[in-house]
Amino acid sequence: MTRWREALRATPMRLTLRLVALYILISALSFLTTWWLASEALLDASESVLEQELEELAASGDPADIALAVAEGARKADPEHQILRFDGPQGTVGNYLGPLPAGDLRQVDLSDKAAGVEGSYIMRSTRIGEGVLTVGQDTDAFDELREVFGKVLFFTLIPTAVLLLAGGMVIALRSTSRLAAIETTLARLAGGDLTARLPKLPGPRDDLSRVGAGIDRLAAAQEASVAALKQVSTDIAHDLRTPIQRLAVLLDQGLARPEGPDRRDFESASDEVQNIAATFDALLRIAQIEGGASLPVAPVDLSELLRDIAELYEPSAAETGHELRLDITAPVVVQGDRRLLGQAIVNLLENALHHAPPGPVTLGAARSGVAGASLWVADHGPGIPGSERDRVLRRLYRLDRSRQTPGNGLGLSLVAAILSRHGAELELTDNAPGLRATIHFASPENSHAS
Ligand SMILES: Nc1ncnc2c1ncn2[C@@H]1O[C@H](COP(=O)(O)OP(=O)(O)O)[C@@H](O)[C@H]1O
Ligand SMILES: [Mg+2]
Repeated sequence: MTRWREALRATPMRLTLRLVALYILISALSFLTTWWLASEALLDASESVLEQELEELAASGDPADIALAVAEGARKADPEHQILRFDGPQGTVGNYLGPLPAGDLRQVDLSDKAAGVEGSYIMRSTRIGEGVLTVGQDTDAFDELREVFGKVLFFTLIPTAVLLLAGGMVIALRSTSRLAAIETTLARLAGGDLTARLPKLPGPRDDLSRVGAGIDRLAAAQEASVAALKQVSTDIAHDLRTPIQRLAVLLDQGLARPEGPDRRDFESASDEVQNIAATFDALLRIAQIEGGASLPVAPVDLSELLRDIAELYEPSAAETGHELRLDITAPVVVQGDRRLLGQAIVNLLENALHHAPPGPVTLGAARSGVAGASLWVADHGPGIPGSERDRVLRRLYRLDRSRQTPGNGLGLSLVAAILSRHGAELELTDNAPGLRATIHFASPENSHAS
């Protein structure tokens, strides 16, 4: 019952009601106009018939002849349909002799049961000398016309209005059931169930399904951001424990020394604290990127970005004995956030500088596929064994041999987070020798950048 009441209040129903009212108004107007035109035409036709009759009867112009002709005609005519009458100097002749209201062309109701005259007639009179000649005809044609119009009204206007109303009701019921689905999902989301999604809405893709898709996207983004927040809390709780414990041990050792902690103890503790702070920052940054608001995407020229980064890192690369090479032939433009993409490239470059011994490091970019692009950082170091290539993307995961190099195992996780926001992918391959880290950007149509 409430569903029907809701349907009645639904926008489509209200629109339908307005449409039906408009339809009825327009139809009534055109119907009335047609009716008026038709009865005017009928009246004209009747008038000319009556006129012709009058002319024929009055042809001689002599009252006596006219009286004769009228008497003759009245004898043959059926008074129910036709009236003939002459009020002449010698008295009144005709098939109706009762009272007759005066006038030229008029509709009158006559009743003379004895003469067989009964009903409504259209009468036309004309003056001839002293007398008045009158002819009349029943209004059956008008009654028929009225009947036809009544039928037209009944069989077209009313069914159309009813059908329109029924159609509006069906559409309204459907839209309320779709709205109800949206409302239920919104209520679940508001109640904290971020996994709530709209069931597939029945019917074609329209504004409602677009709103539904928007709600789903919003819920997915919200869910991702809450999940990222949970993840970072867990990461911080778990992964910062070890360095904090290490710090505690260092401090204990220092304190346990009979001569008291020395400078080296403080230095190690300070290193450890800095390391903890850096890890903390990196974890938060990854969480921000994974769960953040939508990216401010703009065209980014990768070749230009690589050139800028190479220029910036030239001095520190030279210091560690690395030679930066650029492998760029043409501008390569992708849609993305320049700052984040720059951060990803820097992380890959820093890995090459930290984890590979002195040697060449290549930064390259090229277009690939239809409108896709790729970018790579390749070194000649020890590379990453095939079995470890997935694991190094995990947070805080480092190869055993890298334990002594500076870092916290979050560089590649950050790269992965940035790329996933760009709908891009990181591929680690063997550079024979060394590591080749390639970022694949899908063409804008296929990219899922968010
Ligand atoms: N270019 C590279 N050559 C060799 N090993 C690498 C290279 N890049 C990354 N790795 C390995 O992957 C691990 C994870 O890298 P990353 O997430 O950047 O952390 P971090 O550099 O802080 O150790 C590194 O510890 C290292 O063992
Ligand atoms: Mg790194």
